Amino acid sequence: LALALCVSAGGDFDWTKNEKTSFYYGTFPTGFSWGVGSSAYQTEGAWNTDGKGMSIWDVFAHKKGKISSNETGDSSCEGYYKFKDDINLMKEMKLNHYRFSVSWPRILPSGLRSEHVNEKGIRYYSDLIDLLLNSKITPVVTLYHWDLPQVLQEKYGGWQNASMVGYFNEFANLCFERFGNRVKHWITFNNPWSISVEGYETGEHAPGLRMRGSGAYKAAHHIIKAHAKVWHTYDMKWRSKQKGLIGISLSADWGEPVDVSNQRDVEAAERYIHFYLGWFATPLFHGDYPAVMKEYIGRKSGQQGLGASRLPVFSPQEKSYIRGTVDFLGLGHYTTRYVTQKNYPSSFGDSYFADRDLAELVDPKWPDPGSEWLYSVPWGFRRLLNFVKTQYGNPMIYVTENGVSEKMPCTDLCDDWRMQYFREYINELLKAVRDGVNVKGYTAWSLLDGFEWDEGFSERFGLYFVDFRNKNKPRFPKASVQFYKRIISSNGFPS
Ligand code: NOJ
Repeated sequence: LALALCVSAGGDFDWTKNEKTSFYYGTFPTGFSWGVGSSAYQTEGAWNTDGKGMSIWDVFAHKKGKISSNETGDSSCEGYYKFKDDINLMKEMKLNHYRFSVSWPRILPSGLRSEHVNEKGIRYYSDLIDLLLNSKITPVVTLYHWDLPQVLQEKYGGWQNASMVGYFNEFANLCFERFGNRVKHWITFNNPWSISVEGYETGEHAPGLRMRGSGAYKAAHHIIKAHAKVWHTYDMKWRSKQKGLIGISLSADWGEPVDVSNQRDVEAAERYIHFYLGWFATPLFHGDYPAVMKEYIGRKSGQQGLGASRLPVFSPQEKSYIRGTVDFLGLGHYTTRYVTQKNYPSSFGDSYFADRDLAELVDPKWPDPGSEWLYSVPWGFRRLLNFVKTQYGNPMIYVTENGVSEKMPCTDLCDDWRMQYFREYINELLKAVRDGVNVKGYTAWSLLDGFEWDEGFSERFGLYFVDFRNKNKPRFPKASVQFYKRIISSNGFPS
């Protein structure tokens, strides 16, 4: 029994201890970094300007019926032209860091370094980085926030193909070469769960493929290898000179057992988390997929025993190459689900969702002002952070995304639900820091309303309202700007 517990459970994570304590007055450790985030396709616009190549998102969004109201990110916030204004907004908020992503096809239009480097694209990011540094804002740079060069999708099948590992490494190496003298915080991939599941299983995101029960696992396998390769490239070639850190940004909702005294519910919640965060974090910290994934996908594949399944396998050399390739863990977190056991009938077939054998529930009392999936459940954040601490040996964490949206454009700029969300989530973060979780920074998602993927502009996550109907895309501060600014200037919630 002891062995079973230690294999399946989250280290010494205590499921029964769910303290929903009252508001905690106190401050974050000195040097805690406060920031906001964005990504290239969601904000830059300028989709075919200055020699940029096409990405899978340019192509996907141009297809009818893929995006709400058939909107596209062609011009979005025009961030490509307005970055100086945006940095001024950040300066006013006294931010410590800004997280943004580099568009791969903007600097390598054909995806390949050997073919053509677009110097105008390089110049854009270089100027952005210089201005941030002049403004005393640390750049945190994501290399892949979903906009794969379209050519690589067409020629090779994108992340289904192992050759992406080498191509991504060439692109990353170019970024280290050109920007690494100034950028000290690198994130290889943003949210590989989404890339794999929404890109290759449900098809809601580019490239829009529905390869049930195999495509997502294969994409994830190549992404994990690509991450490890890029980490090693940085470690061997650049680290001693550039002295930066390189991590990955994983997204994870929290899964809480419906009934913690019911072992089957606890195991279902563990599966929820291991098929989400653990799918990527366990290989990177421990060298292989979570045992429970191997077991369940194997079962659903009609085979017995660990490893015999649709889940690809790492060789012993790959395991040791992948293990330990995170200098810090980026964590994107928004919401929580209750989880309970559910046996899917075998007729349900192979799919990522059926593989997990669980059902997700929500509490009707949880507020959900914006996205259908985003319920405000602050205590789940502290639980998740403590889980990461116990499961992965208390790694250094940067919260790379956290925030809330609205469906109705908030034209009066009074986003009290967002202020409430930030107040409570950041407070749970503070409690987690007090619990001993090693969190170094927090990134609010996002600076601006932007292109929210398949939802187009109908969902708004910005601290700043953007008027998309106006060609100049003016920005207006929502009330949460001042609110967040106050948290930053007092480094938390002094009593
Ligand atoms: C995660 C994604 O990384 C980001 O691009 C998106 O806007 C937020 N979630 C909100 O859905």
